[in-house]
Amino acid sequence: MGYVRLVDVTKKFGEVTAVNKLNLELNEGECFSMLGPSGCGKTTTLRMVAGFEDLDDGEIYVGDKIMSSKAKGYYLPPEKRNFGMVFQAFAIWPHMSVFENVAFPLRLKRLSSQEIEKRTKEALVHTNLWDDAKKSPVDLSGGGKQRVALARAMAINPGVLLLDEPLSSLDPHLREEMRFEIKDLQKAYGFTVIYVTHDQAEAMALSDRILVMKLGIVQQIDTPLKVYNEPANRFVFSFIGLSNFIQAHVTERGIKVGESGDITFKYLPDVSLGGQRDLVLASRPSEINFVSQGGVPGHVKRKAFLGEIVDYAIDVSGTEVRVQKGRRAAGLNPGDDCQLDFLHPHWYAEND
Ligand SMILES: Nc1ncnc2c1ncn2[C@@H]1O[C@H](COP(=O)(O)OP(=O)(O)O)[C@@H](O)[C@H]1O
Ligand SMILES: [Mg+2]
Repeated sequence: MGYVRLVDVTKKFGEVTAVNKLNLELNEGECFSMLGPSGCGKTTTLRMVAGFEDLDDGEIYVGDKIMSSKAKGYYLPPEKRNFGMVFQAFAIWPHMSVFENVAFPLRLKRLSSQEIEKRTKEALVHTNLWDDAKKSPVDLSGGGKQRVALARAMAINPGVLLLDEPLSSLDPHLREEMRFEIKDLQKAYGFTVIYVTHDQAEAMALSDRILVMKLGIVQQIDTPLKVYNEPANRFVFSFIGLSNFIQAHVTERGIKVGESGDITFKYLPDVSLGGQRDLVLASRPSEINFVSQGGVPGHVKRKAFLGEIVDYAIDVSGTEVRVQKGRRAAGLNPGDDCQLDFLHPHWYAEND
């Protein structure tokens, strides 16, 4: 049984169902991400786990303890849940030193001063802040401020660490660096982490598993590799990584794309999509090859040199298809005709 369990968790704001029958089991020590576009219900879910928001339906457990249960009319207040939380905005106290920012929640818990010293120092050392302990957090960089928030969340020895887009106000370079810091801390301490982000690269780099959400509804829960390689539906395909979608009509002999004749196609759709003749072919720009015969005909519209890769826009019967090739395999030019071979196509129903 999972360490953190959400059972049919539902939250409505008026007409909007922010979270719709969410079921989830997290293992102890797991780094779990919730990924999805803005407004899909990530923050609401995290706030319900933390206890800042009551549920309209369902239950939340940690270990064998109930946190919230609508049916049982039970609700444990946030301060009794012992969760660490870090938000997007730097929630630091400017009038306290870095040390006090981290120590303060421990003082509220009335721990002994020795214990407070010990835990605060440990958290500050782990987040590379020990040398800044006496400074005001106001004098730290954005990354430094967010480290303070992280150290404070860690110092309480939380059962679960909840992170809501903690890196999104940092610049891209620092963001990438801190991803790995968070991952290292998580491993060192063995925390169970729920990490909310709309940044797929962040989720992929950090997580044991990812939940992809759309309009309050779970689309897929899987390892990063599976979410990328075996997207459950068209939405997940398009949300993770670069994607092309091409309308195709499947015939006895192959596929038709736009005005093309039948193209013999190596990878016809799975039989489970059987009855459907009009399908969408989904593919990654890096998984399309230029071939000299037998491919889907196209016409080079644009070519952009991006350094390591060359990015092509190919017109395929009116649909623009992106193809990315290593810079050394980039012989075609705008105006050229070409043929495309799709290496690992996915097939989805048109309205999937
Ligand atoms: N306090 C609130 N009052 C009304 N609507 C809200 C409130 N909080 C969130 N919502 C709505 O719930 C949906 C999910 O929001 P949120 O959980 O913040 O999404 P995310 O964190 O994924 O961007 C959105 O449609 C949002 O407008
Ligand atoms: Mg949010």
